[in-house]
Amino acid sequence: MSNETVIADQFGRRFPYLRLSITDICNFRCSYCLPDGYKKTKADSFLNAQEIIRLARAFAALGTWKIRLTGGEPTVRSDFLDIASGINEISGIKKLAFTTNGYRLTERAGSYYDAGLRAINISVDSLKSDSFKQITGHDYLENIMDGIDACFDAGFENVKLNTVLLKGLNDGELDSFIDFVADKPISLRFIELMQTRDNIDYFKAHHLAGAAVTEKLLSRGWSQKPRITGAGPAIEFANKDSQGTIGLIAPYSKDFCASCNRLRVSAKGALHLCLFGEGGYDLRKYLQSDDQCEELQNKIISLMDFKKSAHFLHDGNSGVREHLASIGG
Ligand code: 5AD
Ligand code: SF4
Repeated sequence: MSNETVIADQFGRRFPYLRLSITDICNFRCSYCLPDGYKKTKADSFLNAQEIIRLARAFAALGTWKIRLTGGEPTVRSDFLDIASGINEISGIKKLAFTTNGYRLTERAGSYYDAGLRAINISVDSLKSDSFKQITGHDYLENIMDGIDACFDAGFENVKLNTVLLKGLNDGELDSFIDFVADKPISLRFIELMQTRDNIDYFKAHHLAGAAVTEKLLSRGWSQKPRITGAGPAIEFANKDSQGTIGLIAPYSKDFCASCNRLRVSAKGALHLCLFGEGGYDLRKYLQSDDQCEELQNKIISLMDFKKSAHFLHDGNSGVREHLASIGG
């Protein structure tokens, strides 16, 4: 990933990548995230499309070139396609991505592509219908499998899948996942379960260290790809006999934070310098008119001084975020 951005911190890291949540709402009930479903809270007022575009413009002017729309489930917004095409028109944005639970993907893949979205991450925590239902609260696996095919038909060159590693729930499926990507241009990413305020007991029961994935891949003849500077914190593996690739996101591993290349903005317009641990800095007040763009840019740059070197999860700094639906994982 190119690093040409002026958004940088005091540790020499650069942040060309913005993950932008556009809603906290989700229609799934993933057991590690929103086991009881999304609950409406007080005055839920998420950034409107105009505020979102202003925000994206300011980041693009500072050299951000990749934006991922996330949630909650970003596609539950009725103006999702307008937001995507609005951001896609901003000069400097080279890659517009989104993360989705795959809801209605079969019908919608074409319209996503037409709106300028070129990179899609779909959450697939199991390849077995019953486990999928147990984990996400929805009997939706077959639909998602059709949705993946629809993405390729629509023109997406590569499809990314996110799989949260869950001891006792999907750790028996590592071979199936590896076999699944053998003949498809899919990048599958195993994500270590992260502890949040709401999932402490669940975390204790189901957290599995990413080493299990590494061992399995190595034993099946996969090898770790050399790290590309600026590539972000995933460790990537490949195998010459597999069209697909597999990655591992292990936030509890040593040095995970050294390769951090992303910033996050919540659906209410708060800049989060890290997925964990801090409350966020309000940017919404700078999104009320086009005239504020420069002020907003200065604010973003000045906030970078507060970015810490690491998340310090090992020192008990965890569980501050209630769940990841408010910040998009
Ligand atoms: N730990 C790890 N991954 C999580 N996600 C949501 N909550 C957690 C958690 N506690 C993942 C989702 C999705 C991505 C956006 O974040 O499964 O793939
Ligand atoms: Fe929804 Fe994603 Fe949370 Fe699952 S992990 S409940 S799909 S926001």
